[in-house]
Amino acid sequence: MSTQTANAQIILPTSHGQPIVMEAVNLSKSFQEGSGAELNILKNINLTVRMGDKIAIVGASGSGKSTLLHLLGGLDTPTAGQVFIDDKEMLRMKEVDRCRLRNRKLGFIYQFHHLLPEFTAQENVAMPALIKGVPPYQAMKKADVLLEKVGMTRRLDHKPAELSGGERQRAAIARAMVNEPQCICADEPTGNLDKATAEQVFRVLLRLNQEFGTSLIVVTHDMALAEKMDIIYALEEGHLERRK
Ligand SMILES: Nc1ncnc2c1ncn2[C@@H]1O[C@H](COP(=O)(O)OP(=O)(O)OP(=O)(O)O)[C@@H](O)[C@H]1O
Ligand SMILES: [Mg+2]
Repeated sequence: MSTQTANAQIILPTSHGQPIVMEAVNLSKSFQEGSGAELNILKNINLTVRMGDKIAIVGASGSGKSTLLHLLGGLDTPTAGQVFIDDKEMLRMKEVDRCRLRNRKLGFIYQFHHLLPEFTAQENVAMPALIKGVPPYQAMKKADVLLEKVGMTRRLDHKPAELSGGERQRAAIARAMVNEPQCICADEPTGNLDKATAEQVFRVLLRLNQEFGTSLIVVTHDMALAEKMDIIYALEEGHLERRK
């Protein structure tokens, strides 16, 4: 849906009017270079994520996509600005409360899978549910169902070192889904997968969005996959520009 005004075209996302699940306000992030110079990676970023939003973030390597996702998930601290999840400001929370909020409300798929090496695929997927307090039998059952959805039924007992790169990524996706989060932040979730598997994995994410209204924020280099989302932002020179 779009509305024409006198001097600007306002594009309303399909989820317009839905509750806001995440909001970034004037978010900036700088890093200190070895020489002492300041690297301004993100400059005054504003982003509103509503329930059911499907958002892709594209941008060149080094443009700050992972940095932005880490800030949105409360995994890193901005130089300035705020991130709200469900109206709660992440930075103002105690670490323990921030972790609980992240565990219950967000699913995170990292650029590098971050599976725990000493646990099996099934245990890794069940872990966030166990941390939340779901009884072990139920948590393992949920892990089974999710691993089946990503085509990993025959690898439940494999530890990360005994999985292929793509299988590790699929296990990480299943893990991000286990607590039925309201928003999944995914950093190149299909980066190491062949085209067919990447599409299959993407379908799993889209199905989750459709079934549960889970919002998706997906960083990807793959424009064909980005086009499957309703909203596309490009990160350039520290600014987030709406492309779709
Ligand atoms: N801890 C840090 N200290 C200094 N510079 C950093 C730090 N973390 C990231 N950077 C720099 O910030 C920039 C953005 O990094 P980021 O990982 O967010 O990029 P990206 O867009 O995710 O790239 P890619 O597509 O390669 O994953 C890079 O130039 C990187 O060198
Ligand atoms: Mg990155």
